[in-house]
Amino acid sequence: MAGQVLDVCDLSVVRSGKIVIKDVCLTVDEGEFLGIVGPNGSGKSTFLLAVLGLLKSNSGTIRIYGHPPMSRMIRQKIGWVSQAASYLPKNVRLTVRELVKLGTLHSGNLYDFGSHSRRNKTTQAIRMTGLEHVQNIDVGRLSGGQRQRAVIARALATEADLILLDEPLVGIDRESRNSLLKLLDRLCHEKGKTIIMVSHDLTAIRQTAHRMVFLEETIRFDGPTSDFPNLEKLASLRGIEHVHEIQDD
Ligand SMILES: Nc1ncnc2c1ncn2[C@@H]1O[C@H](COP(=O)(O)OP(=O)(O)OP(=O)(O)O)[C@@H](O)[C@H]1O
Ligand SMILES: [Mg+2]
Repeated sequence: MAGQVLDVCDLSVVRSGKIVIKDVCLTVDEGEFLGIVGPNGSGKSTFLLAVLGLLKSNSGTIRIYGHPPMSRMIRQKIGWVSQAASYLPKNVRLTVRELVKLGTLHSGNLYDFGSHSRRNKTTQAIRMTGLEHVQNIDVGRLSGGQRQRAVIARALATEADLILLDEPLVGIDRESRNSLLKLLDRLCHEKGKTIIMVSHDLTAIRQTAHRMVFLEETIRFDGPTSDFPNLEKLASLRGIEHVHEIQDD
């Protein structure tokens, strides 16, 4: 049986005095590809930041591989691709290879930047993301899709087993989007990575995720992708009433 990667129990998060996440319970097993969807401001990024331990929770517990967020034991096991990943400052003078190599820095000796194993991890991550041909150019010159791949490659270079992505498809063209989804699917099926991806792109999530969560302050749906509710059912889960009826005499 696959091991449990994430166990969130009764999580609530308050930001600026307002409840953003309330009573969220969620478990994710090894090798799962979970898609999180929900409207703007529904707490998706907040949820991921709380899981990472970057935001404090007000109540509830979070365990990643059995450890609390930010614990030294798991830091190397988590890769994070943030919502702002594709907006790397244009003036960053860093080649793709250097950016990916940064992913290897936290393990072992910080000063051992040129070691053989670091080089191998970097090369492998670049190959997996199909960035060989641009590895020596500045990240500032990449397209949006290539930049997302470079940030994912950095996460892969850490050898993370759990990869969290927040809106990785924003600002990239259709072709890059498809190859990115294929890459994530391969990472999940061939490399056994566990993936949690937040996206507005319902079609993309449906194509790739095994399981979907609809989050709007709390979890309104959690189940296999094939069972994800249609619009009408979703509206009723969200407590939205049929507006057209109001106009009837
Ligand atoms: N830095 C912040 N300080 C205080 N409140 C915040 C902060 N960032 C977000 N919020 C609030 O928390 C709520 C949830 O925001 P969050 O960013 O988690 O939503 P989201 O589901 O990721 O939205 P989007 O789809 O637009 O990315 C919103 O009401 C937002 O206004
Ligand atoms: Mg967000």
